[in-house]
Amino acid sequence: MEATVRGVRLAYDDVGQGPPVVLVHAFPLNKAMWRRQVAAVAEAGWRAVAVDLRGFGGWEAGNEPFTMDLCADDVAALLDHLGIQEPVVLAGLSMGGYVAFACVRRHPHRLRALVLADTRAEPDTEEGRASRYDQARRVEQEGVGVVVEAMLPRLVGETTRARRPEVVAEVREIMAAARPEGVAAALRGLAERPDSRPVLAKIDVPTLIVVGEEDVITPPALAEAMHTGIKGSRLAVIPGAGHLPNLETPDAFNGALIGFLETLR
Ligand code: MLT
Repeated sequence: MEATVRGVRLAYDDVGQGPPVVLVHAFPLNKAMWRRQVAAVAEAGWRAVAVDLRGFGGWEAGNEPFTMDLCADDVAALLDHLGIQEPVVLAGLSMGGYVAFACVRRHPHRLRALVLADTRAEPDTEEGRASRYDQARRVEQEGVGVVVEAMLPRLVGETTRARRPEVVAEVREIMAAARPEGVAAALRGLAERPDSRPVLAKIDVPTLIVVGEEDVITPPALAEAMHTGIKGSRLAVIPGAGHLPNLETPDAFNGALIGFLETLR
């Protein structure tokens, strides 16, 4: 499905009936990464809404600078478009988690619970920021392949690399759908994202933190730091998975997700 929200076209999936669960994807993927979660969440009696952030999934990036705040406002506007006024369970993986932190800052009343998967509260280092700007320039000149091939070996865990070639192929295919202008804009937005550590103590909704045990991009130590910072949060460490446990070991990821949703009933 598609909607024009704040002047840009966004695609989304909206499946199932019940209280809403909104899923926000990682960089540089799109809502297709949530396929198995959308099915499981809907099956469990919830309404699963998986959204493509602007510039991803083939749609235009718009003219405004891509920021986590802009994406959070897009998500809130999409909820308005869908007539969803009740607070939602917001699940974000990696960049999706950065957007979730922006929602905590800007739209706290829209949140019923949070799932923060393979993400971090820390901002980029100076070096990390410079490398994102460099990559953004290269993507504009050479295409998204630059980012896809640089990131792919780090996105999935070593177990997936060794034993699940079909998952590696699926991740590559999802990333290949990204467009250079969307990827470049997002890289600059990721570089400029704020420090979300001050947000942790302000989170007062039930929160599940999930991390793949083999995640080298946002390793388990960062998940533990969020777990310590967010009062009453739960932490699920998924064995045999890297940065994308929802794709690498979907049964384990879905078990943690659905188990958490059950506690909210
Ligand atoms: C992601 O998976 O969204 C990215 O790895 C996030 C990042 O590069 O910080």
